Amino acid sequence: MSRYIVAISGASGSAYGLAIIKGLAYAGHEVAVTASREGISILRDETGLDISGMDGEAAAREVESHLGTGPLTVSFHAEDNLYAPISSGSFRTAGMFVAPCSMKTLAGIANGYANNLLERAADVVIKERRPLLIVPRETPLSAIHLENMLKLARLGVHILPAMPGFYNRPQTIEDMVNSIAGRALDLMGVDNDMYKRWS
Ligand SMILES: Cc1cc2nc3c(=O)[nH]c(=O)nc-3n(C[C@H](O)[C@H](O)[C@H](O)COP(=O)(O)O)c2cc1C
Repeated sequence: MSRYIVAISGASGSAYGLAIIKGLAYAGHEVAVTASREGISILRDETGLDISGMDGEAAAREVESHLGTGPLTVSFHAEDNLYAPISSGSFRTAGMFVAPCSMKTLAGIANGYANNLLERAADVVIKERRPLLIVPRETPLSAIHLENMLKLARLGVHILPAMPGFYNRPQTIEDMVNSIAGRALDLMGVDNDMYKRWS
């Protein structure tokens, strides 16, 4: 069993983050979740999972109950809690997913501007040379966004845009979300059966 960080920022597509948490929990891993204030608000609007105003313990149990994962697989750390374990490199993790990643959070990570727990945790993962994967979501992309992604890609960060393929003929939104989540888990070396592989 390993421990991963999943961060949900304020871009559309919070379902991607939830699907990754679910995939990690089902694979038997521990998941430390953080979300920005805007991420929590969009999570509520897009998925119905409302953790606004909850403390870390209550938010973690709410995420588990929404996803149907086992108890105590998830911990939750608010964006302003810089005392959280994921703020320090001495807290060992197998890597971090930022899904979805807003262009603001992307800019923060690409420039080492650790303005909240989410960006600090990513900064730590980069400095400790642990695997980091981001699922950027914006359209169209400006040269600023692309340069920030290029900067991270050159550091070895996995850039997995929220761009589901259609060749496997997805039937539902869940199929499309799971195809991105499954690819994200694949890249981070996490076994999963979340999507139909091309054969
Ligand atoms: C409903 C809604 C959808 C948004 N979607 C996106 C998006 O897809 N990509 C993006 O970069 N910003 C998006 N934003 C703007 C970000 O939420 C905003 O820049 C915010 O400051 C990001 O903060 P964070 O990165 O700390 O979460 C959206 C905002 C709202 C209210």
